[in-house]
Amino acid sequence: MLVILKRDNEEISREAAQLVAGAVRKKPALTLGLATGGTMTGVYKHLVQFHKQGLLDFSQVVTFNLDEYLGLAATHPQSFHYFMHEHFFQHVNVDPRNIHIPDGTVRGNFEQYCATYEDAIRKAGGIDLQILGIGRNGHIGFNEPTSSLGSRTRLKVLSQETIDDNAKFFAPSEESPRCAITMGIGTILEAKKIILLATGAAKATAVAKSIEGPIASAVSASALQLHPEVTFIVDEQAASQLTQRDYYRRVLEMTALLTPERMS
Ligand code: PGA
Repeated sequence: MLVILKRDNEEISREAAQLVAGAVRKKPALTLGLATGGTMTGVYKHLVQFHKQGLLDFSQVVTFNLDEYLGLAATHPQSFHYFMHEHFFQHVNVDPRNIHIPDGTVRGNFEQYCATYEDAIRKAGGIDLQILGIGRNGHIGFNEPTSSLGSRTRLKVLSQETIDDNAKFFAPSEESPRCAITMGIGTILEAKKIILLATGAAKATAVAKSIEGPIASAVSASALQLHPEVTFIVDEQAASQLTQRDYYRRVLEMTALLTPERMS
């Protein structure tokens, strides 16, 4: 596990965007796992900039988003479909046929729908690089605390903490979603490489538990300790409860020196 400590959201976004850009240049037909949320907007801003400057071509990239609220159509401004279109897809040249986001309007046989999503990931050759945010409760995707560490894409009931965190984005008259379709922790762990971004003091406990705590279903992101190629990119506030910050800095320096390919 690499832990990259940065000053603020802007530095984190740039670092993450550079890692994604490097991966796309290395493999133009990259299968990219994408995330939504406030932490991600800066990353997409930089990726869009690289594309507009002619530095990055997404024409062969295949994307899979982590999750979508159940009950929200793609046209709903709080849907993750809408978010992705607004912040990323409308500004770059990802082929619409290569975009995959769980369908929040699916009804009936959820299991079958989710198995189809997993199949599509498999047919694309698996996810090469997965970007993640983290919830205050340690969730990745919508894998709420106590999610099985082996879980696959499925319907998931949202925790009260997540519902409260998201309520501010919905009109007071509107009930915010109670469920979502999300890739599972097992699905995420199959990505070849994973980058998790965290900013702000509200994430400090979740970040510390994920990196330095025991692996536990109570903190979904702690399952990333099982993965051989994970990079956490964390700002000062989100890193404030980590006890090994000096060690992470030294690891990073030595890694850059001895295995520079890991840093790009
Ligand atoms: P945020 O969400 O980036 O809006 O904080 C992250 C998450 O809940 O995964």
